[in-house]
Amino acid sequence: MTDLRFDDRVAVVTGAGGGLGKSHALLLASRGARVVVNDIGGSVTGEGSDDGPAQQLVSEIRANGGEAVADVNSVATPEGGAAIIKTAMDNFGRLDIVVNNAGILRDQTFDAMTMDLLDPVLDVHLKGAFNVTRPAFVIMREQGYGRVVSTCSASGILGSPHKSNYAAAKTGLIGFTRVIAAEGAAHNIKANAVSPIAYTRMLAHSLEGPEADDQFGPQAEEVKEQLTKMFTDTLAPALVSPVVAFLAHENCPVSGEIYTAGGGQVSRFFIGRTKGYFNRDLSIEEVADHFAEIRDETDYTVMNDPAEEVGQVLTAVTGTNTTVK
Ligand code: NAI
Repeated sequence: MTDLRFDDRVAVVTGAGGGLGKSHALLLASRGARVVVNDIGGSVTGEGSDDGPAQQLVSEIRANGGEAVADVNSVATPEGGAAIIKTAMDNFGRLDIVVNNAGILRDQTFDAMTMDLLDPVLDVHLKGAFNVTRPAFVIMREQGYGRVVSTCSASGILGSPHKSNYAAAKTGLIGFTRVIAAEGAAHNIKANAVSPIAYTRMLAHSLEGPEADDQFGPQAEEVKEQLTKMFTDTLAPALVSPVVAFLAHENCPVSGEIYTAGGGQVSRFFIGRTKGYFNRDLSIEEVADHFAEIRDETDYTVMNDPAEEVGQVLTAVTGTNTTVK
């Protein structure tokens, strides 16, 4: 296969000063994309700011012969999001790709999850994606082309303890992705989500502190040491970036989907609907009696949109094949 390239494409990668975002930006730039390297340069918990990481990556990309510009606006406000997209337009005159990657952590047990731990996490991950993608979408719709890749997480899809704020924000991005895919379809705008696994400062942070100790029990120190060694050796961010880049490419064949990538393993996550149980005289006891059937994963289906789901419900209810459009 010939190299998949991004010549003439302009990409915004948020949170690209380090970790996964840096790796995504380096790969896109190495394949010809002009890249806005956005990063506020704060701590893993979202404190402080520093222009250094974004500037340094831009220097690295330029030294490799690529084109990039630094942007240190925060994704967490609508003004910041608009300014990031303006940086792309002012410097490169167009915008084709948004990679929503910026992120922070503020872990806490659910009983102690206060608003000062919830709000900043929602602001960066969930509202951050809205703040950046909405102005981008307007441009993409006008030009009839766009690719949006948002970063979700297994911590949300599957549920990691102490991360109710993060999980809610990350899983919100799945609905966000589905709707952008639906609204973008007529304009050749594709939106997909990636659930990465990579050893970055964020994963290192998750292995530190009392939350991890709780999770790993009395052998916590030993377990953490083993995991750190295994993760550093196997989970390079560079093994996630090819998936992000493919979903950001013109050839990307899908929209509204979720891919998990880590250490070179790539899979698709999807939401399935079981065949289930139907009874017009449904009662609590009927639900109880047929619960195994309701949960049975044999012959599940993967729905394309809510109309398809309603169609399946109506097919069961009316006994005739019903399509809802
Ligand atoms: P990281 O901490 O190295 O990178 C996150 C970057 O986002 C940092 O450079 C930070 O300065 C930047 N950032 C934070 N707030 C920002 C804001 N308001 N505006 C602009 N930039 C901001 O962590 P990592 O692991 O590279 O995370 C990248 C993304 O991947 C995050 O969304 C994270 O939640 C997600 N993720 C990572 C996993 C992993 O295994 N490392 C697992 C699942 C999801």
